[in-house]
Amino acid sequence: MKKIKFGIAGLGRIGRIHLENLSTKFNDIEILAISDVDPNIKELAKKYSIPNFYNNYEDLVNNKDIEAVVICSPTKFHAEHIIKAAKSGKKIFCEKPMDLSLNTVSKVIKVLDEVNINLFLAFNRRFDPNFKKVKEIVSKGDVGEIQIIKITSRDPSPPPISYIKTSGGLFLDMSIHDFDMARFISEKEIVEVDAKGVVFNDVEIEKNGDIDTAVITLTLENNAMVVIDNSRKAAYGYDQRIEVFGSKGMCGSENKLHNNFYFYDQKGSMGSLPMDFFMDRYSESYYNEIKSFIECLKDNKKPPVNQKDGLMALAIGLAAKKSMKEKRRVKISEIL
Ligand SMILES: NC(=O)c1ccc[n+]([C@@H]2O[C@H](COP(=O)([O-])OP(=O)(O)OC[C@H]3O[C@@H](n4cnc5c(N)ncnc54)[C@H](O)[C@@H]3O)[C@@H](O)[C@H]2O)c1
Repeated sequence: MKKIKFGIAGLGRIGRIHLENLSTKFNDIEILAISDVDPNIKELAKKYSIPNFYNNYEDLVNNKDIEAVVICSPTKFHAEHIIKAAKSGKKIFCEKPMDLSLNTVSKVIKVLDEVNINLFLAFNRRFDPNFKKVKEIVSKGDVGEIQIIKITSRDPSPPPISYIKTSGGLFLDMSIHDFDMARFISEKEIVEVDAKGVVFNDVEIEKNGDIDTAVITLTLENNAMVVIDNSRKAAYGYDQRIEVFGSKGMCGSENKLHNNFYFYDQKGSMGSLPMDFFMDRYSESYYNEIKSFIECLKDNKKPPVNQKDGLMALAIGLAAKKSMKEKRRVKISEIL
C-alpha cells in the first residue's frame, strides 16, 4: 500500500498532538519531515524516526515528495504558509484561525480558489463525539425548529499576557470556536451579533485591551438566538457545554469529567471535576479531525470544514469586537 507522505510545520502544543496521532495511529501515512524555527526539533525527529527536519518552512514545501502539510505554526504565519503550500501543490490541513485580518483571509481564499484547493481548517470541536451527536439529532429534525442554542465555553485559567498581545483578543482566540460551533450545529448563517465583555480576573488583560469574561448573542437567519458565555478563568476547570432548544424538544452535551464517581452523605453529594483543558478534553476530536483529513486525501473528498468556514467565524469575531466597542448590535453584512 502506498503511504501518503506528510510534513508538519510548527511543533508546539498543538503540533505535537498531531505529530503523536499521525505517527502512532495511522498505517496509511508516513511523516517525511517536520519544520520549526526551534533547533531542538532535531530531537523530536529522532524520537519519532522522521527522516528530515528543517528550520525553515520553505525546505518543507520544497520537498517534492511531501503530499500533505499540517500547519501548526503561530497564527501570524498561517496565511504565508498556506499560500506557499498551495502554490507547491500540497494538500493542506491548517490550524485555526487562518489569520486575524479579513483582508489577508480573502487573499488566501483567492489563491486557494486559483489553484482549486480546499484546505482542511482545524475547527476540532466539530469532531468531538458528543457535539457530533448533538449535531446529528438537530440535523434529523428531532428537536424541531431551532429557537435557542446555549454554548458555555470557559477556560480553566487565562493564557500568558504574551499570548493575549497577539491573539486578537478573546472573541478571536477563544469564542471563534463557539462561533463555528453555532454555524455547525444549526447549519444556518449568523446575521447579527451583540457582544458584551468585561475583565474580572487580571488587570494586565485589561491593560492589553482585552477582556476575560463575555456574553455574546448571535441571531441566526431564522431569527433563532445563540447565547455564548465565555470566561478565561473557571475555578473548577474547563467548562464546555452545549444545549439546543427547539419546537419539538431539547438536546445537549454536558462536560466530560475526569471520571464518573459520585459520593453522597448527609451534607450533599460530590462528583468529579471536568477535564483540565483542551489537550485532554478534546483529545478524541484531534484524532478524529486528522483521521477525517486522511480520509479526504485517500478518497479524494472535499474537506468537511474549509477556508470559507474560517472566513465566517472570523467575520463573526470581528462583528463581536465592533459590537462591544460601539455598544450596539452589528450585522454581519457590515463586516463582509
Ligand atoms: N484547535 C485547537 O484547539 C488549537 C489549540 C491550540 C492552538 N491552536 C492553534 O495552533 C497554532 C499554534 O498554537 P500552539 O498553541 O501550538 O503554539 P505554540 O507556541 O505552542 O507552538 C508554535 C510552534 O511554532 C513554531 N514556529 C514559530 N515560527 C515558526 C515558523 N515560521 N515556521 C514553523 N514553526 C514556527 C514555534 O517554535 C513553536 O514550536 C495557533 O494558530 C493556535 O491558534 C489550535
